[in-house]
Amino acid sequence: MGSKEEEEEVVESREWVLSSYSPQGLPTSDHLKIRKVSLMIGDNVIPDHHVALKLLKLSVDPYLRLIIIGRQDGLYLPQVELNKVVKTFGVGRVVRSKDPGYRRGDIVVHPFLGVVILFPFFEVADYCVIPANSLRKVDPTAGISSSDYLSSLGLPGFTAWVGMQHIGNPKAGENVFVSAAAGAVGMYAGQLAKLKGCRVVGSTGTDDKVKFLKEDLGFDDAFNYKKETDFDVALSKYFPNGIDIYFDNVGGKMLEAVLNHVNRHARIPLCGMISQYNQVWNDREGVRNLLNAIGKEVRLEGFLAGSHLHRFQDFTTEMEGYIKQGKIKSKYQIYNGIESFLESLTSLFSSSNVGKVIIQVSKDEEP
Ligand SMILES: NC(=O)c1ccc[n+]([C@@H]2O[C@H](COP(=O)([O-])OP(=O)(O)OC[C@H]3O[C@@H](n4cnc5c(N)ncnc54)[C@H](OP(=O)(O)O)[C@@H]3O)[C@@H](O)[C@H]2O)c1
Repeated sequence: MGSKEEEEEVVESREWVLSSYSPQGLPTSDHLKIRKVSLMIGDNVIPDHHVALKLLKLSVDPYLRLIIIGRQDGLYLPQVELNKVVKTFGVGRVVRSKDPGYRRGDIVVHPFLGVVILFPFFEVADYCVIPANSLRKVDPTAGISSSDYLSSLGLPGFTAWVGMQHIGNPKAGENVFVSAAAGAVGMYAGQLAKLKGCRVVGSTGTDDKVKFLKEDLGFDDAFNYKKETDFDVALSKYFPNGIDIYFDNVGGKMLEAVLNHVNRHARIPLCGMISQYNQVWNDREGVRNLLNAIGKEVRLEGFLAGSHLHRFQDFTTEMEGYIKQGKIKSKYQIYNGIESFLESLTSLFSSSNVGKVIIQVSKDEEP
């Protein structure tokens, strides 16, 4: 049952709006501001085929940085309009419904299936009113935690699966390198390659995370890139037989170093370049040795998870199987309250997080 306030026509909510674009450096409270609003959720106010949601959890992902740059820089993501609420993926509970498919108390997540373009709809807020066709109901008794829908079964897991399985195409015995390996996408990319019988090494930014990769996730090896003064030397040490797949989450100097260690016909799924997101494009690092990709006939392939939605059902079936068999593990970094949005977003650009960053907006009745 909803709380008393949800029986009312109006709920007090807080929401994060973009007040100015942030082209360079970390976004601050000059760019993103939290504001209080009184949200009308009466039956006579909510449009037909819409529902009012109380947000329970919200996903914090690096693409949020890329949609507040305010200039295109060749980027693929549409920018948030000024003074509009930022949106992300999430888990919510229906508090009012003007759609026959939903009723109060239903737990819902963002959809993947049935939509052509992967695009988030949940506002970074305590409550929001959204179209019912942008939701998917989940079964709270299915043995899947609500965090899984934002992590292993959400954007990070799907991205890792597309990049590793369909672009990396790992074969038993191959040498696989994953950067930002203790983050949301990286932890799944590495585990999926292990399940295919590969030797997997990850890089990350703290010694504790190195330990996490080796002891908790079963990586064959891992290193703290912040302690390496020369990535070339490090990669020679960790990959004496060269690299067959590099799952690139960071770009920049690491990508350049990897190109000096690739084997013939290596694959490099270009998933993200987080080391470059806070720079304007002409200040970003270039890769000087792309010539190696010709000589070694390397395939570097950028990809967007959203372009592979036709594979989402296959992914879900496979990933749910792994989760239930205990073959894929997850770790979450939970921030409390909607007020933590800016802090949690900027944390992605330090090494302070392990696993998937999630905001616990409300603890009410989560599955
Ligand atoms: N192509 C797609 O469809 C798609 C979809 C989702 C995500 N992505 C991309 O996948 C990558 C990982 O995303 P995620 O959600 O899993 O984030 P995440 O790894 O959970 O968080 C980001 C991590 O990146 C590392 N990092 C931050 N700044 C860095 C720097 N300057 N150099 C090296 N590492 C740095 C930090 O870990 P450590 O420094 O401790 O390693 C940080 O924890 C991002 O590049 C993201 O944009 C792509």
